[in-house]
Amino acid sequence: MSEVIDSSLLSRAMTEADLPAVMEIEQRAYVVPWTPGIMRDCLRVGYHCWVYERGGELIGYGILSASMDVGESHILNLCVRPESQGRGFGRRILEHLLEQSKRLGCHLVLLEARPSNPVAIRLYRSAGFEQIGRRKRYYPTPTGREDALVFALDISAAFSA
Ligand SMILES: CC(C)(COP(=O)(O)OP(=O)(O)OC[C@H]1O[C@@H](n2cnc3c(N)ncnc32)[C@H](O)[C@@H]1OP(=O)(O)O)[C@@H](O)C(=O)NCCC(=O)NCCS
Repeated sequence: MSEVIDSSLLSRAMTEADLPAVMEIEQRAYVVPWTPGIMRDCLRVGYHCWVYERGGELIGYGILSASMDVGESHILNLCVRPESQGRGFGRRILEHLLEQSKRLGCHLVLLEARPSNPVAIRLYRSAGFEQIGRRKRYYPTPTGREDALVFALDISAAFSA
C-alpha cells in the first residue's frame, strides 16, 4: 500500500524486489555502504523499511527500528540518491519517518551521524534533534574508524491534531 507524501513524492513499504535499486543508491551515496546482506536482514527482521518514489523512480529510502515497549524508534538509514539531493527530499523523508515513529507509539527517536557528514547533521539539528552522546570508533571508514554522534528527538508533542 503506497501513500502520497505530497504531489511529487510517494512512499511505500520496501520489498526484496527493491533491493537491487536500493543497493545501487546505497553504493553511490555512502563511502562505506551497507552490504546487501545487512539491507536484506532489515527486511527479514521486520524493521520498518520504506522506499520513496518520484515519477516512478526510486529516489530514496529510510529504515526504522521501533521498540514499542520502551517507546523508542531508531532511524538506521536515511538516504536520497545523489542526483536528487539538496532538493528537500531528505527533509520530507525524515518527517515521514518521524510520523511513522509516532504512529507506532514511540515518543523518542534516536539516530547516529558521522561527524564528517555536515549535511546530515544540519538536517537533523534543523528538525530539532539534539546531540545526546558520542560512540567512539563506531563507524568504519576506508582507512580506519570514525566516532558516531548520537542524536535524539522527543516527538511526544509532535503530530497531534
Ligand atoms: C543527508 C541526506 C539524507 C539529506 O537529504 P537531502 O535531500 O540532500 O537534503 P534536503 O534537500 O532535504 O535538505 C535538508 C537540510 O539538509 C541540509 N543540507 C542539505 N544540503 C546541504 C548542503 N549541501 N550543505 C549543507 N547542508 C545541507 C540543510 O540543513 C537542509 O535544510 P535547508 O534546505 O532548510 O537549509 C542526503 O544528502 C543523503 O542521502 N546523503 C547520503 C546518505 C547519508 O549521509 N545519509 C544520512 C546518514 S546519517
